[in-house]
Amino acid sequence: MNPAAGPPGAPPAAFGTAATAAPGARDAAVIRLDGVSRVYLMGESQVRALDDVTLAIARGDFVAIMGPSGSGKSTLLNVLGCLDTPTSGTYRLDGEAVESLTEDQLAEVRQRKIGFVFQSYHLIGRMTAARNVELPLIFAGEETQARREKVRVALEAVGLTPRTHHRPDQLSGGERQRVGIARAMVMRPSILLADEPTGNLDTRSGDEIVALLETLNRGGLTLVLVTHDPRIAEHARRVLRMRDGSIENDTEVHP
Ligand SMILES: Nc1ncnc2c1ncn2[C@@H]1O[C@H](COP(=O)(O)OP(=O)(O)OP(=O)(O)O)[C@@H](O)[C@H]1O
Ligand SMILES: [Mg+2]
Repeated sequence: MNPAAGPPGAPPAAFGTAATAAPGARDAAVIRLDGVSRVYLMGESQVRALDDVTLAIARGDFVAIMGPSGSGKSTLLNVLGCLDTPTSGTYRLDGEAVESLTEDQLAEVRQRKIGFVFQSYHLIGRMTAARNVELPLIFAGEETQARREKVRVALEAVGLTPRTHHRPDQLSGGERQRVGIARAMVMRPSILLADEPTGNLDTRSGDEIVALLETLNRGGLTLVLVTHDPRIAEHARRVLRMRDGSIENDTEVHP
């Protein structure tokens, strides 16, 4: 990688190739939800945060999820990311029924298959950019030398080599989000889920983050992004509109 190319134009090839499908994978859809509901019980009343959602997402697709506040976007993303479990229905990830996985297998899926990017970055404030990006590798039990190299490559891929030793409070919002993306990608997941990743950023930084995510998607990564911003949704190949826990509209933007 050429650091001189700078962000966000530097194609993060370091992530790109690993993000493609496992050899022999038969199903073009990496994600299949069938009649998925998520019901929260609040005392006497029920909240149907997801209401009978059926959905297939193709490997390598770029999907934007839009819809009013409370329509179930984050709940859907959390289910896709195996952070939350459906109350009913089935979720197949890479052909495997998620509900049949053991806790250990689920943890493995979350660690290796899926990356998460959050609106408010979720970085650890007292740790440097490098250390934040290193954390998933530590949890995965990687050797020190391998960790160092992967962190270096990940920060370079998001154009942050010169900020390696900065803490989050010494970074701009866009830079923080690039650390968040490097951390999400350092385990080379095949799916990246982003919940309003540009929600706290000004237009220019937001555009840079979207350009970076698009580059990752072009490298084979399946990208699912929640956004309130129609300009950002325009970059997706497919836009899902949610209302009251259901998908009320599903549009292929660039078939
Ligand atoms: N842990 C919870 N317990 C009870 N109800 C919840 C819980 N989490 C979410 N909800 C409810 O489920 C519905 C969907 O919430 P969700 O967070 O998915 O919405 P959203 O579309 O992401 O909204 P926003 O755009 O504001 O982020 C809301 O009505 C919310 O109040
Ligand atoms: Mg939300």
